[in-house]
Amino acid sequence: MTVTSMMRQILLRRRPVGLPGPDDFDLVETPIPDVPDGEVLRRTIYLSLDPYMRGRMSDAPSYATPVAIGQPIVGHTVSQVVASNNPEFAPGDVVAGYDGWREYAVSKGTDLRKLNPVAPPISTALGVLGMPGMTAYVGLLDIGQPKAGETVVVSAASGAVGSIVGQIARINGCRAVGVAGSAEKCAYVVDELGFDACVNYKAGDFRAQLAATCPNGIDIYFENVGGAVFRAVLTLLNQNARIPLCGLIADYNATEPERGPNLRPLLVKRAMIKGFIVSDYRERTPDFLRDCSTWLFEGRLKYREDIVDGLENAPAALLKLFDGTNFGKLIVRVSPDPTRQ
Ligand SMILES: NC(=O)c1ccc[n+]([C@@H]2O[C@H](COP(=O)([O-])OP(=O)(O)OC[C@H]3O[C@@H](n4cnc5c(N)ncnc54)[C@H](OP(=O)(O)O)[C@@H]3O)[C@@H](O)[C@H]2O)c1
Repeated sequence: MTVTSMMRQILLRRRPVGLPGPDDFDLVETPIPDVPDGEVLRRTIYLSLDPYMRGRMSDAPSYATPVAIGQPIVGHTVSQVVASNNPEFAPGDVVAGYDGWREYAVSKGTDLRKLNPVAPPISTALGVLGMPGMTAYVGLLDIGQPKAGETVVVSAASGAVGSIVGQIARINGCRAVGVAGSAEKCAYVVDELGFDACVNYKAGDFRAQLAATCPNGIDIYFENVGGAVFRAVLTLLNQNARIPLCGLIADYNATEPERGPNLRPLLVKRAMIKGFIVSDYRERTPDFLRDCSTWLFEGRLKYREDIVDGLENAPAALLKLFDGTNFGKLIVRVSPDPTRQ
């Protein structure tokens, strides 16, 4: 295994206003760190790009600490061990971690999880079998409490979280209705993922289209986007509806607060809305990995990846999440995947 002496990483130069641009980041070369006693050095293969990264670039009050100016952007990674002074890890091991936007990282390894290099594909540790899949699993099952026969609507339905929400809803005997931003995405959601229906919120007259698609109303709305989609969904809720409030991506780059929805239907329909952060549910990880690995193996869970090559392309690629041009779990291939050659 060749190890060069320098590595690249992407640092936060300044806090973006609105959509992040190239001037908000610095691509720098630094020496690859030494490997102290008890530590493990790995090379990044895949870097996950996720909407929460926009929040970490801001110092507005949040549930998580912001990235400091001059520090690498954080992010989940899949890497290969290249040198180890820790008996738990050997060169060649493939691991999932949280190494951020850089080509190499060193640590004691307590933050690493070893992956099977044979199957499933190692990149699934960033999507269907990673943080987004876990978000779908606990958000729908623990908060949404789906019951067979209910109607579950999920926004950003072709994306990393939404695609899994609808499939788990179906596995639980629910009717799954997606909301997505193009006819192509809607066709994928229905034809490939097996949702019962999908409504393109950009096609016009969204509320009427959704009402026609949900003749029995909406029992669970898995909220990923906020904004106009949320306003329309609220008016179609059933009695005792539940709303796992997972994300509000329509607001993440807003420079002015979005006009709020009318919350009156929540009162009248005795609906339950609950915000959640996936890291609150760590104790559910073994259940998530057991169930979703089984469903994946059985072909009951499908996923799609949108892979961009080159660490230097991470800042521009991140924007795909906010204009909807990503189609599936957005991942940067930082170095060749040795398990897919
Ligand atoms: N609470 C938690 O712990 C947690 C954990 C993970 C993710 N999340 C949240 O889950 C949501 C989905 O994340 P993901 O990783 O699965 O991303 P993703 O769905 O793979 O990609 C983001 C998608 O959001 C949609 N979108 C972007 N701007 C929008 C807008 N203004 N209005 C409506 N839709 C818009 C786009 O799809 P269309 O083309 O269909 O519009 C885009 O493809 C995000 O809000 C994220 O912050 C929360």
